[in-house]
Amino acid sequence: MISEYITATEACEFLGVAPDTFRRIVRDLSLPTVNDPTDARVKRYSRASIITLKQRPLQIPTKHRVITLSNNKGGVSKTTTAISLAAQAAADGCRVLLIDAAPQASATHSLLVDSTWSAESDHGILLSWLKGDAPFQELIKPIRFKDFQIDLIPSSPKNDQIDRSNPLEAVPALREFFESWHDSPYDYIFIDTDPSFGTLVSMAQVGSHFVICPVQADVLSVDGTIQLTRQLQRARNLTKSQFPTLLGFFLSRFDSRRRVCKEALDTLRAAYPDSVFETVIPDNVRVMESPGQKAPVNLTAPDSKGALAYKSLWKEVRERVERTATSA
Ligand SMILES: Nc1ncnc2c1ncn2[C@@H]1O[C@H](COP(=O)(O)OP(=O)(O)OP(=O)(O)O)[C@@H](O)[C@H]1O
Ligand SMILES: [Mg+2]
Repeated sequence: MISEYITATEACEFLGVAPDTFRRIVRDLSLPTVNDPTDARVKRYSRASIITLKQRPLQIPTKHRVITLSNNKGGVSKTTTAISLAAQAAADGCRVLLIDAAPQASATHSLLVDSTWSAESDHGILLSWLKGDAPFQELIKPIRFKDFQIDLIPSSPKNDQIDRSNPLEAVPALREFFESWHDSPYDYIFIDTDPSFGTLVSMAQVGSHFVICPVQADVLSVDGTIQLTRQLQRARNLTKSQFPTLLGFFLSRFDSRRRVCKEALDTLRAAYPDSVFETVIPDNVRVMESPGQKAPVNLTAPDSKGALAYKSLWKEVRERVERTATSA
């Protein structure tokens, strides 16, 4: 029989928060408790009130929602997805900032034509802001496409130095800035990251409300997702909040003719019943070609299977964000 009351450990696990955060929630919301029948010093918490808590929208005090693309496996479509979601959001009328936080600067090279950007420069990248050499707003380069605009903070290999800076200062820096940026003009801020869990990636995750994780359709990649969920738990321990929340996994470069892809999808859905997007992104040559054309796939090949899949993923992302979060 399912008990009406659960332990603090079970509640923390269900809510995905650290014990400190849970104690704060219990205190602030005066959650109903009972003493454990076997040990009066131990408290138990009403299962129903914990479930209600999880269903309550998360409160975000700023206009912008920050979403990081993250997976410590390489080549799983983080950059492609960051660009494609940013472009779909912008085409949908949202004000969008795309931050290239990956020192390999693939998003930057996929969008900026060479004459407008020098990879040798360390001005106008996150590193110069972190060192105090440039205000955040000065990093932003507007990129105008036919029907919409994406504002980009480019990257360069010099951002690598962030991994060698003091994590105690670097990791919370973006979060502190985003929380205090009350006149931010953006609806959505997307951050592209490297395949690692170093200081720079932690800075992006800790600064985010949500994390989306693209997963390649193979068994090892699916097994690797557990590392991301642990990493996000560590990030939440730092923020002492429900952020960053895992918005979801999706399968990238999906080939429906291959059994291994279908098996990977089934395994992922069984492991994370609430956290897998319905949309899968097919392996599509138009998606692969778009970086060479310095434009997102929704512009270079709007009717391609890849562009349509990203449109559907963006719709799901937006719905999930709006369902999960309200402005405080
Ligand atoms: N749906 C797709 N169909 C075809 N090619 C794709 C698709 N998605 C990504 N690619 C290609 O796969 C390669 C890796 O994609 P991408 O750079 O987005 O991955 P990544 O996760 O950002 O890699 P890294 O870990 O190195 O940062 C790129 O050449 C990209 O063009
Ligand atoms: Mg990348």
